[in-house]
Amino acid sequence: MAARSRLPRSVELTVNGQAVTVDRAPMVRLLDVLREDLQLTGTKEGCGEGECGACTVLLDGEPVCSCLVPLAQARGRDVVTIEGVPADHPLKRAFVEEGGAQCGMCTPGMIMAALSLPARPSLDAVRAGLAGNLCRCTGYEAIYRAVQKAAFERSGIAE
Ligand code: FES
Ligand code: FES
Repeated sequence: MAARSRLPRSVELTVNGQAVTVDRAPMVRLLDVLREDLQLTGTKEGCGEGECGACTVLLDGEPVCSCLVPLAQARGRDVVTIEGVPADHPLKRAFVEEGGAQCGMCTPGMIMAALSLPARPSLDAVRAGLAGNLCRCTGYEAIYRAVQKAAFERSGIAE
């Protein structure tokens, strides 16, 4: 009997500016590909159900919950994780300076979500932009302060 040809299942995408090819089933979660295949463990898993935002990454510039994105949906697209944000980025610095990096679990997702906020967001805009990112421990005040501080710095306007 002739051998059945296997369908290719590798998926090509760009992660943090690097072209990568992933040989995984198309329905595997992007979150698992990032953490297990690419060792990008800065992206965290909280709920695994799209509720907490800990797994937030940018997909073509838009924040998404990577626990809900099948690998196939990322084919040919640009993914940015927390590792792709420079260490001296205003958001990362502001989280440290304002004490917003409290537990490490929610912080990467908060920063990735905050990246898509407009320049000089109001407190209400910050709250709305981070509404999908849950903090289950110390509270949001330092996080909001950090995001607003970074936004002012990024817009080149002193507070
Ligand atoms: S782990 Fe993806 S939203 Fe909670
Ligand atoms: S600071 Fe991360 S869950 Fe509260």
